[in-house]
Amino acid sequence: MAKYVGAIDQGTTSSRFIVFDQAGSIVSVAQKEHQQIYRKPGYVEHDPIEIWRNTESVIAEALARKGLGPRDLAAIGITNQRETTLIWDRHTGTPLHNALVWQDTRVDSIVAEYARDGGHDRLRSKTGLPLTSYFSGLKLRWLLDNVPGARERAAAGDVLFGTIDTWLVWNLTGGQCHITDVTNASRTQLMDIRTLRWDDDILALFDIPDACLPTIVSSSDLYGEAVGLLAGVPIAGILGDQQAALVGQACFEQGEVKNTYGTGCFMLMNTGETPYASKHGLLTTVGYRFGEAKTVYALEGSIAIAGALVQWLRDNLGLIEQSTDIEPLARSVPDNGGVTIVPAFSGLYAPHWNAGARGLIGGLTRFANKGHIARAAIEATAFQTMEVLQAMTQDTGIAVKELRTDGGMVVNELLMQFQADILDVPVVRPKVIETTALGAAYAAGLATGIWGGTDDLVGNWAADKRWQPVMPENERRRLNAGWAKAVGRAVDWA
Ligand code: G3P
Repeated sequence: MAKYVGAIDQGTTSSRFIVFDQAGSIVSVAQKEHQQIYRKPGYVEHDPIEIWRNTESVIAEALARKGLGPRDLAAIGITNQRETTLIWDRHTGTPLHNALVWQDTRVDSIVAEYARDGGHDRLRSKTGLPLTSYFSGLKLRWLLDNVPGARERAAAGDVLFGTIDTWLVWNLTGGQCHITDVTNASRTQLMDIRTLRWDDDILALFDIPDACLPTIVSSSDLYGEAVGLLAGVPIAGILGDQQAALVGQACFEQGEVKNTYGTGCFMLMNTGETPYASKHGLLTTVGYRFGEAKTVYALEGSIAIAGALVQWLRDNLGLIEQSTDIEPLARSVPDNGGVTIVPAFSGLYAPHWNAGARGLIGGLTRFANKGHIARAAIEATAFQTMEVLQAMTQDTGIAVKELRTDGGMVVNELLMQFQADILDVPVVRPKVIETTALGAAYAAGLATGIWGGTDDLVGNWAADKRWQPVMPENERRRLNAGWAKAVGRAVDWA
């Protein structure tokens, strides 16, 4: 009998396939990066065909490494970079354009036009989201406006829209299933987060024909069977990557919080069965919905640039050779030497939502060196996280007891300690830090009986290391005030 569950984790910079056992431990993994296409300032695109080919290749590689085949997998789950938008021909499966990546800001002027009538929060009560370039709806509008013939063909049902989950399921099933789960749908700004249906008024407002939209499904269910490489394996879980990490971190109780440090940084708090309206710049989003069970909502603080700043120091400035060099370089100095970096490369996301903000390096003196820049880069992620956690506390009145962390940057122990210090909250790293893929595997395994319920998943979670805050209060205040001043300068720069 098949005893493992596979998870496709299609992220912003790479695609992975991870095979898990019933204890939630990794059995095999393979990973491949894909190209980031920057054709103009503000444009960020991915080639959907490359993403699908890489997905197939990591599945084959991870299985081959351990001599596994489709018969060893009870189910697969999918998790993905959210909001990234594409359209393709229903008959040939060919994309009509590169995918517009979540970080792409080309729709800024369309956002401004819509915001003129009713402000940036005009769709918040229905969708949980402010009007910004981040979400899929206006990206889809741009594609329909700019690819010749796309809107007419979409209205006729010949061109389909999808986020990356939809694209992968479509390809995995040989074009049989055109679906998206509630978590991914909640990031399109086209779905009513209470009814979990596409909203006719918003579709009319954005001029989007409903014939091109996928069917919205729950995050854990038997959607269909794969063909090809994984022939016969049930596809049984879909979660946007940040919601998947919430599940992988077993944050099933109201008030539990996880923070994922990847390209960007995304903090989600489980807020239970009612959507919580944010008054402090957070997003209200669907956390997960397992089968027919009640929908669980989350408050989210999205930060666009975290690990991407380290990559920028590596690729654009040549300050380090590899991303992991950032920690030893930062440790070469005792503090930031007065340097602050605000990495507002795509404007500032939560809690500011300021599209006109631009990045800056401030506080430079002749004394500043590479070590100070490296330290300021690490601290920038922790400061942005602090702003988001403060907003969560203000919105919910819940004092967070601990922050569960995951994602690539959590190997950086300097960051973990500084994070605990600047938040004045303990930070905990779990044994399995691949919580995103694990969450997708859990969703698929719940639908196929590999796990009986969320208690099994809570039982699988174990802490690896915990960092306690040790920074004196006056020092924390001084640093936070310095950060606030720097953000004030970065805002509305453009
Ligand atoms: O909302 C964007 C987010 O889903 C991207 O996550 O880990 O691919 O950078 P990641």
